[in-house]
Amino acid sequence: MISWKAPLALAGARWAWSRARRRYGSAPTPEPARGRNLELLAWGAAGAVIGVGASALSERRRSGLMSGKVVLITGGSRGLGLQLAREFGASGASVVICARGQENLDRAVAELTGRGVDAHGVVCDVTDPEQVETLLDEAEQRFGRLDVLVNSAGTMLVGPQDALTDEHFRQAMDIMFWGPFHLSRAAVDRLRATRGSIVNITSIGAYLSVPHMLPYSTAKHAWAALSEGMAAETAGTGVRVTTVVPGLMRTGSHRGVLFRGDPEREYAWFALAAGLPLLSVSVERAARHIVHATARRKGFLVITPTARLGLVARGIAPGLTQEAMRLVGWLLPDTPGQVEERLGSEAGDSRLGRVVNTVAVLNERAGRQMNQRSRAEEQREDRRTGERSSE
Ligand SMILES: NC(=O)c1ccc[n+]([C@@H]2O[C@H](COP(=O)([O-])OP(=O)(O)OC[C@H]3O[C@@H](n4cnc5c(N)ncnc54)[C@H](OP(=O)(O)O)[C@@H]3O)[C@@H](O)[C@H]2O)c1
Repeated sequence: MISWKAPLALAGARWAWSRARRRYGSAPTPEPARGRNLELLAWGAAGAVIGVGASALSERRRSGLMSGKVVLITGGSRGLGLQLAREFGASGASVVICARGQENLDRAVAELTGRGVDAHGVVCDVTDPEQVETLLDEAEQRFGRLDVLVNSAGTMLVGPQDALTDEHFRQAMDIMFWGPFHLSRAAVDRLRATRGSIVNITSIGAYLSVPHMLPYSTAKHAWAALSEGMAAETAGTGVRVTTVVPGLMRTGSHRGVLFRGDPEREYAWFALAAGLPLLSVSVERAARHIVHATARRKGFLVITPTARLGLVARGIAPGLTQEAMRLVGWLLPDTPGQVEERLGSEAGDSRLGRVVNTVAVLNERAGRQMNQRSRAEEQREDRRTGERSSE
């Protein structure tokens, strides 16, 4: 993974060193350009060998990191949850994944099993406390213990607050606050027995309330507060709580996000931000960091430099940060006279959406690799199949 960085760094260092020597006079007569290029190439090759070696070593270290552990991941059928299941599996853990949509879940379990991961899927809606209890029982019955619970299930809704109803806020709280709340409370006793961990995926939106994503930010804010409080209250019990604060990750989830107000324009800004390399991080990288933080029993993990910058800015200049957010809000699309609603997969099919998808090509690719067919898309396809068979 890191093999391209090492040759680049070594060749760059060698180049800078020879420039410095020439400038400050300690270098002998300059070598001909061809000789210099060959030397740079040799340094690059040496870097590649070091890079590949380091990569192989870290791969070996990674493969035993979670050996014998059982990890339950909510929202493990696609996106970050699925990548976490792959990564925990690669580090030696058995995984139980849950989601509402059976098809995506089956595909994810088949893929994980194909990679040699001991994986089990349970259909579960985390907003239902009874289903949550059944999920925990099934995980323990299947593998005999539970070591890590990862609360990753989540949904996003993008649109100005004028275009939203109370119900949108309620749904966000149900999925991203009450769901993981019930699950974590029910899991704590089981985790005490194994001195296990709860890993809570929050968001930078929990700490910087992003305009046009208020239900999401509200629910994540509440969840981050509970996560940090739980971390403090479980001190001395053997259970570790890790709060993860990701910035934008290229999980390909923009296709399943619901856009309200002016869906095409809302899709455009969101998909662009979620897909740009400088603003977002690859989901593979994010998952590696999370697994590592879990194994090391870290309390707090921030993913992406922009998220770190946002947290620092909010900490030292909250008023200025609020002004910056006001500016963002002012730049975002107005609420139209007639509020419309569309899924990302539909809004992205507009002319504007297609232009954005071309620019945000990395996130489009991630969508294909992360099993991104949202439940709404599945339901729409099921309806179409039903209509065709009844004709
Ligand atoms: N993508 C980002 O840039 C980003 C940034 C910061 C934080 N995050 C957080 O990271 C997590 C994963 O994001 P993602 O982009 O990977 O999302 P995603 O691709 O949309 O995946 C969401 C997963 O959650 C499941 N899910 C949703 N509602 C559920 C429910 N009620 N019960 C059980 N499962 C449910 C989905 O399956 P079903 O629909 O079939 O249930 C799916 O497996 C979320 O908590 C998100 O807020 C993401």
